[in-house]
Amino acid sequence: MSIAEIFDSMEYGPAPESDANARQWLQHHEGTFDLFINGSWTKGTANTRFASINPANGETLAQITQASAEDVEAAVSAARKAQGKWEKLGGYGRARHLYALARILQRNARLLAVLESLDNGKPVRETRDIDIPLVARHFYHHAGWAQLQESQFPNHEAMGVIGQIIPWNFPLLMLAWKIAPAIAAGNTVVLKPAEFTSLTALCFAELCKQAGLPDGVVNIVTGDGRTGEQIVGHPDINKIAFTGSTEVGRRIREATAGTGKHLTLELGGKSPFIVFDDADIDSAVEGVVDAIWFNQGQVCCAGSRLLVQEGIAEKFYRKLRARMENLRLGDPLDKCIDMGAIVAPVQLQTIEALVKKGCDEGADMWQPSWTVPKDGCFYPPTLFTNVAPATTIAQEEIFGPVVVAMTFRTPGEAVQLANNTRYGLAASVWSENINLALDIAPKLDCGVVWVNSTNQFDAACGFGGNRESGYGREGGIEGMQEVLKPKFLSKLQAYKETPSQKQSGKSALAPVSTVDRTAKMYIGGKQSRPDSGYSLPVFSAKGDFIAEIGEGNRKDIRNAVEAARKATAWTNTTAHNRAQVLYYLAENLDIRRQEFADRLSQMTGASAKDAQNEVAVAVRRLFTYGAWADKYESRVHNPPMRGVTLAMKEAIGTIGVICPDENPLLGMISLAAPAIAMGNRVIVVPSEMHSLSATDFYQVLETSDVPAGVFNIVTGRKSDLVKPLASHDDVKSLWYVGSAEGCALVEKSSCGNMKRTWTNHGLKRDWFVPEQAEGEEFLQHATQIKNIWIPYGE
Ligand code: NAI
Repeated sequence: MSIAEIFDSMEYGPAPESDANARQWLQHHEGTFDLFINGSWTKGTANTRFASINPANGETLAQITQASAEDVEAAVSAARKAQGKWEKLGGYGRARHLYALARILQRNARLLAVLESLDNGKPVRETRDIDIPLVARHFYHHAGWAQLQESQFPNHEAMGVIGQIIPWNFPLLMLAWKIAPAIAAGNTVVLKPAEFTSLTALCFAELCKQAGLPDGVVNIVTGDGRTGEQIVGHPDINKIAFTGSTEVGRRIREATAGTGKHLTLELGGKSPFIVFDDADIDSAVEGVVDAIWFNQGQVCCAGSRLLVQEGIAEKFYRKLRARMENLRLGDPLDKCIDMGAIVAPVQLQTIEALVKKGCDEGADMWQPSWTVPKDGCFYPPTLFTNVAPATTIAQEEIFGPVVVAMTFRTPGEAVQLANNTRYGLAASVWSENINLALDIAPKLDCGVVWVNSTNQFDAACGFGGNRESGYGREGGIEGMQEVLKPKFLSKLQAYKETPSQKQSGKSALAPVSTVDRTAKMYIGGKQSRPDSGYSLPVFSAKGDFIAEIGEGNRKDIRNAVEAARKATAWTNTTAHNRAQVLYYLAENLDIRRQEFADRLSQMTGASAKDAQNEVAVAVRRLFTYGAWADKYESRVHNPPMRGVTLAMKEAIGTIGVICPDENPLLGMISLAAPAIAMGNRVIVVPSEMHSLSATDFYQVLETSDVPAGVFNIVTGRKSDLVKPLASHDDVKSLWYVGSAEGCALVEKSSCGNMKRTWTNHGLKRDWFVPEQAEGEEFLQHATQIKNIWIPYGE
């Protein structure tokens, strides 16, 4: 198009970005890439390569190595070898390296932006203005955390070697999110980029070398899911960090269950974009463009479900269609386009199939009148209206430029619709009434909420989801906590489960007695008999029969979860009120300390002095969490925008707590108290052999104003109760202390709905040592952080 013609039509002319530097870089490598292991380009042992293709035109850009198990082995061993020295370098030493990486990334920003655009198909305008600047910001920010590590994370150390697997939608940005915090904290990494988009990771490897990063700190192995599986299964890796589909995330959870590997998962989403009738409609329409057509909708937190208040819906759709008609789609290297190519034919087919399904299911599909280029992987922006909330397109992640719209009448209905998904990653709320927006934000079950904005990211603000969107946060202080561990953990001994009935050596049958000495369970603030009608005998340390406890089953768990679900008032009450209840619990336990000490001695054989000490420490621990209840506070971040991000510490919901056998009273209090202090409701399964400390405790609960349903106690066999707790959708997290086999069972059973778990990884803590038994580590597990972004100004 000539300039005269452009003036005539007032159309945008093309503004192509040069790809000369990127091509030169590819040529320099002769279009063929090895693996980056121990600071050197290393040939893959299997001698197998695959093509990396430009999805905008089908051109082969390079040949990439498919790493074999032996290559993964070499990378892990290089990372292990480098780790000790890297950690010993200290925070300042590492900070200088991260700073050097940030600088070299900035110097090569244009090359990286073009390379990313070529390899992935995303518009260079986005890689240039969003991806690459955020990558550099991530390294700067984490250079800062390295610098401050000793003072900000005392008594913590690196986890060791971290295996990282990333997707193709933000290749270099996801690499930065994974590598920057990990190496800042003193870990070394083996990272696998997605097979569609390895190039910027390989370019980054080269920049690491140029910036003087010690060999072995960053290792990049390329390949498909098989290489990913080898990383996940490698025994010498301490943590796996994964971003990708929920399906693969679930497989990784299964594969790592019981191995002691730490795990963070950032998975899919179906995020709501909620528009109230008092929203600034034009801004909100522009918001939809950024929510679902940014990166062709291939964004885990894309606002893919548009929820519009009924009164403005038609007007909103009209404006949105007009805007869609004007979107520009085409060559990703043209700086004037809004949308580029879909990453690969397979992804295009998935999108097409889901859109067809949406039409078959009866929703109304609308696309702009213009056509997309035929010679690449392109898909037009697509709007579905008249969508029923239960249909496939309303529930499944499409991961393409397709938004499905639904309407609501009231704010309550908006929240219900928004939460009607198995995911829980992000949400956008649009309203000029800040009171309404801030009332809705806490009610949305997700990890990020953008008020009057969308798809905002910053290195200082944690990112991550709830439910089947995974667990763990990346970025900010929360992200650092995911790559560090308390130092005492590496000194713990293996946990040895005491076999049931070992004390007694007697028959499991209780002597027939005319007096009912069956301790009941405690569900919904009431003493209740077990559904099964069966009970289990409890023997003293000397082997004498003391009492019976109810043998809980799946139905008792279900009743307890129902009671816990109803007790939402506890979550919503003030922290001050919760603190008072914890102090009151402490006071009432203290009044009965002799009785509890006697019971401990009777059950466990502890000396009178030790038993009294256990009760005293339990009382003190309740005081500790009374103190913490209103002091474990949220933060306010200042990301680079006119606005703030509130990092709200929220209760998780219902937590299942499976208690240790040792120190049955103190163990139970140490776990349950932080959970309830933070506003959670708990279902406690006490030690099978020593349940009476728990069943005695409900008398303390009854006299301490603990609302019904907040603290539920289900007694019985651990082995019978773990599974129903782990597989119940309404139990949001499961804590377990016990044998390594028990930990594995908990982690495996949690895969169904990707429940958070916290186990002792088969190690034994000392409940009397505050460092191991109380404090922020416990509070972190009892909360999840929701980042609420609030822009301000006219
Ligand atoms: P994927 O989850 O299969 O791939 C992500 C990464 O995991 C890649 O590096 C891949 O090689 C690796 N991987 C695959 N199988 C593995 C295994 N068994 N063990 C370890 N690593 C493994 O995602 P894919 O197939 O590329 O996309 C499929 C769908 O996943 C998309 O349509 C989208 O819905 C979703 N997705 C979500 C992302 C997110 O950011 N939440 C990112 C990419 C995809």
